[in-house]
Amino acid sequence: MCGIVGYVGSKPVIDILLNGLSKLEYRGYDSAGVAVNSEGKIKIYKAEGKLQNLKELLETHKAEILDTTAGIGHIRWATHGLPNTINAHPHTCNCGKLAIVHNGIIENYKELKKDLLAKGCEFKSETDTEVVAHLIANEYGKYNDLPKAVREAAKKLKGAYALCVMHQDEPNILVGTRKNAPLIVALGQGENYLASDSPAIIQYTKRVIYLDDDQFAVLTPSSVLITDIEGRQIDRKEEILPWEPVAMSKLGYKHFMLKEIHEQPDVIRNVLSGKLPDINKPIVLDEVKLTKDEIKNLKRIEIIACGTSLHAAMVAKYILEAFTNIPVDVEASSEYIYRKTVTDANTLVIGISQSGETSDTITAIRQAKSVGSHVLIITNRPDSIMAREAHSLIPVNAGIEVSVAATKSFNAQLIALYLFAMYIAEIKESFDLEKIKDLKHEMLLLPQKIETILSHKEDIMKCARAFASYKNFIYIARGINYPTALEGALKLKEISYINATGYPAGELKHGPIAMLDETMPVLAILMPGSIVYEKVLSNAEEAKARNAKMIALTSAHDAHLNDVFEYILRVPSVDEYLSPVITSVPLQLLAYYIAEFLGKDVDQPRNLAKSVTVE
Ligand code: F6R
Repeated sequence: MCGIVGYVGSKPVIDILLNGLSKLEYRGYDSAGVAVNSEGKIKIYKAEGKLQNLKELLETHKAEILDTTAGIGHIRWATHGLPNTINAHPHTCNCGKLAIVHNGIIENYKELKKDLLAKGCEFKSETDTEVVAHLIANEYGKYNDLPKAVREAAKKLKGAYALCVMHQDEPNILVGTRKNAPLIVALGQGENYLASDSPAIIQYTKRVIYLDDDQFAVLTPSSVLITDIEGRQIDRKEEILPWEPVAMSKLGYKHFMLKEIHEQPDVIRNVLSGKLPDINKPIVLDEVKLTKDEIKNLKRIEIIACGTSLHAAMVAKYILEAFTNIPVDVEASSEYIYRKTVTDANTLVIGISQSGETSDTITAIRQAKSVGSHVLIITNRPDSIMAREAHSLIPVNAGIEVSVAATKSFNAQLIALYLFAMYIAEIKESFDLEKIKDLKHEMLLLPQKIETILSHKEDIMKCARAFASYKNFIYIARGINYPTALEGALKLKEISYINATGYPAGELKHGPIAMLDETMPVLAILMPGSIVYEKVLSNAEEAKARNAKMIALTSAHDAHLNDVFEYILRVPSVDEYLSPVITSVPLQLLAYYIAEFLGKDVDQPRNLAKSVTVE
């Protein structure tokens, strides 16, 4: 979603802003802009579409912005108003002396706008952000003090925001604040930065301060002052970012998505390391702060997440219920937050999120916390808001995920969830401990098995080529691979824009079978293990009888499969409990190659954002 970068210092400001914004591009956006304080004036440059358009525009204005010491930049993912140049940030006020960039949504912008219109403010855009620009300008008129003006304006705002503001008359100051949206202050030598996410600044400095809600940062090149909304100074310790800048490179792959798919074996090794020291010893999860008695007394587990993380949660339900005998409910965060929270102190609430910044999941875990539940967060971003809210935190350490379509984070989350389920089962002795030992052994083999899939991609590419022109797709599976079918379908629709739907195979004949004919490919996941293999095969035969084009994803070498399926994508055999880690990989690749053949923007699909920071 939207991204913010701000800079005060003596380096070339435009380069720093553009470079920072380019590091946030992966989050998804549709326009970009910068404002600089140059030669005593605020100058704003904005362009619709990709950052390249803004770069080209700035190139033509180079001579105007040579002498610049402060600036703010933004990439916008449209919420209020079309994704055009007028609605792009930065926004300004009537006099044009102030510039502001904003992430989030101002919920009371209509009421505020009415008042401001009555005071003579003229609006050029359809955005909620322009309202904030006029509001701060109005306060500036009273106080002639930018930090004070921002604080007074913030008192009137409702909703979610990260703001970065500058004023012509205070050329060496940037003011930032946040509420329910991330904003960090990054500290340099004779220069300071504001950013909505660390990739924007990590190449310059790793020293950061994470602003909390309703905190205000006043930056000059040589100082950073953090205050509360009344202007009272707050002491905040700086922290060191846990990332390396190299993590943002494609390392020779055509797309970040392909690179991230290939990183999965190492990511899994990474999650396992230290936590599974020896298959004969218990899982080590020091991150879980529940006592053994609290674990034994758990009556229920709720897992809340969105999108791909929700699919990981659905796999976890099978595992946790099987291993621990604790009932597990899984819910989309966006639904969880709009009904009564009947969670209590004997319920463990698990929030899963790659970014740790997903607005609905943040709200959901806050609700769960408020009724006394222990909140365990599984995230790829130990520096995120969610991580900071957690009672227990399992960081999955998959490395920064740049491609909008989640891949490696899914499997990293799954491994963390398997470890957690085994950890509880060992404490409660609620599952055959010999079987857990076998599964631990198998888990250690998963990276190798994924490597086998990654080094034999030809069948997947052939299949992708054959099906790239289809407009619709159905994915079916049963049991623990039903969430994998949903995930495979989600990957395909996200990056190729082909309409793909996952169904429990048994549901096909309760409606979707009506759609089947030769124009509707059906991909069936058939992993031997429990009884579901035979059942999915029967459901696939029913689909075949309706002339659907059939693809199998399986580890079986059953000769009958050749009668039913035109394409068979084979994976190494694996225990059924662990199979989603294996079956998810060819589905990621299939989606990738289809999108690639169609010439789609794989890493930044239209309309999508990497971190969904609005409800
Ligand atoms: C799918 C995808 C999204 C995210 C969802 C949740 O490829 O990336 O569906 O999974 O927006 O995001 P996180 O996990 O960051 O909470």
